[in-house]
Amino acid sequence: MLVSPRVILAPAFRQGRLVGAFNTGNLEMTMGILRAAEERKAPVLLQIAEKRLPHSPLALMGPMMVNAARQATVPVAVQLDHGEEPAVLAEAAALGFTGLMFDGSALSPDENARRTSAVRALGVDWIEGEIGVLAGSEGGPEAEALYSDPGQAQTYAEASGCDCLAVSIGNAHGHYKGKPRLNFTILEEIHRRLPDLPLVLHGGTGIPKEDLARAVKLGICKVNIATASFDALYKGASKPAGDYFSLSEAMAQSVYESTMKQLEWFGEVSA
Ligand code: 13P
Repeated sequence: MLVSPRVILAPAFRQGRLVGAFNTGNLEMTMGILRAAEERKAPVLLQIAEKRLPHSPLALMGPMMVNAARQATVPVAVQLDHGEEPAVLAEAAALGFTGLMFDGSALSPDENARRTSAVRALGVDWIEGEIGVLAGSEGGPEAEALYSDPGQAQTYAEASGCDCLAVSIGNAHGHYKGKPRLNFTILEEIHRRLPDLPLVLHGGTGIPKEDLARAVKLGICKVNIATASFDALYKGASKPAGDYFSLSEAMAQSVYESTMKQLEWFGEVSA
């Protein structure tokens, strides 16, 4: 069933549970992700990043994602990930997305807050903001990491009225070079200043279970996963399949297996 991220994330945050937000790029990924969510009876977010749209157009992906969520037997929110362009944010809202992430992390904190609150006018219930810059990117040019400043995070969150906040604490999109080194001191300070605001950890692929267990105790309730699913899709597609139908099933199955593993971890570290 299609729901607002609020329906999933507000109780998860209160109860200290981690929710998976899985990015998709095609039909098979979407099917694999939702098959796993249904099997584990886990509410999830299904997301597509703006940078992915040249390869997977929103006009095609959006209705498919929204309808897949509607038909799912578990609550599923559909969210635009790293939205920057006003026209893309408006298109996602018009297509029935229930969450929008505005990524103004490259802007000054004031401008970021101003533009984040302007997204509210699109009438979508749930707005995710970001403060600090993550290393790596969702299909775009590599960015240098810039840790979130707790004071700025507080000012930004209060000025923008965002419903949840993505933090940059050493997490990165793509594959980590070595073991991820998350700065829990920064996370703890952000959570201390904003105790009622759900926090989001991007760059979920490759973050060890022990780190997830620490993060969920410090306000993180949503973890974004993209690379693991795209890798799984590629792996599924790389096995000799024989015909298109077997290929399609192999891709969905591989993403399903990867998503099952992530959801199992999120379940294990949740209260
Ligand atoms: P990964 O690609 O590291 O899984 O990160 C996904 C993400 O944060 C999407 O916004």
